[in-house]
Amino acid sequence: MNGAIGEYNPGMSKTLTPNQDELKKAAARAALEHLVPGEVVGVGSGSTVNFFIDELGARRSQFPRAVSSSSGSTERLRAHGIEVLDLNDVIAAGRRIPVYVDGADEINASLQMVKGGGGALTREKIVAAASEQFVCIVDRSKWVEQLGRFPLPVEVIPMAVELISVRLRRLGGQPTLRAGNATDNGNLILDVAGLRIENPGSLEEEINQWAGVVTVGLFARQPASVALVATPEGVEARRAKPATR
Ligand code: 5RP
Repeated sequence: MNGAIGEYNPGMSKTLTPNQDELKKAAARAALEHLVPGEVVGVGSGSTVNFFIDELGARRSQFPRAVSSSSGSTERLRAHGIEVLDLNDVIAAGRRIPVYVDGADEINASLQMVKGGGGALTREKIVAAASEQFVCIVDRSKWVEQLGRFPLPVEVIPMAVELISVRLRRLGGQPTLRAGNATDNGNLILDVAGLRIENPGSLEEEINQWAGVVTVGLFARQPASVALVATPEGVEARRAKPATR
């Protein structure tokens, strides 16, 4: 574990009271140790990843190239002078992406995740699948015993929204069409509350094969390789306990 995270307030007793952004930053900084200098970095999306991109930007001579999972991350990477490569070009050239770094909305002890709070789930799953390792960076609020408290995002082709909503209700979920809605791929997102996710791998498989679903925000069949969980005491690297189901 890295050292305690927090601010020292001069004139007061030493207080260590990190806020959520300080925890996110600490997790983001810890991810640097997992990268391979000179190789392409897989970059996720979200506020925690934004801190990671800023850390990368400060070291762009070591990490000059990335593959990005959203237009937001692409813009931030470019603003730091990091070249954003097209995934097809990277794969066609036979180049490696040793590490993909991304946040999560929830993560459990098997390192299975709910993702898509920022709407980038499809591209995130693609870049994660193209990468050798998935390093998940989270503050401790994302660590859960059971997935499902955070509404599960599902990216859907617009003409199938009602069809998929009916099916999700049959599973016991309450889908809501996300406002402001189109993804980077021009699709819509349903946020599904109330699901009991007892077996994340089979639920991912089931929802994924419905016609009209592009991606479900369960990352269970390919969980993270390591979770860097920031707590006030430091950043813990947690490896997966085998999934019970
Ligand atoms: C975006 C994601 C993000 O990783 C997830 O929403 C976590 O974001 P944040 O770091 O802002 O809490 O899946 O689609």
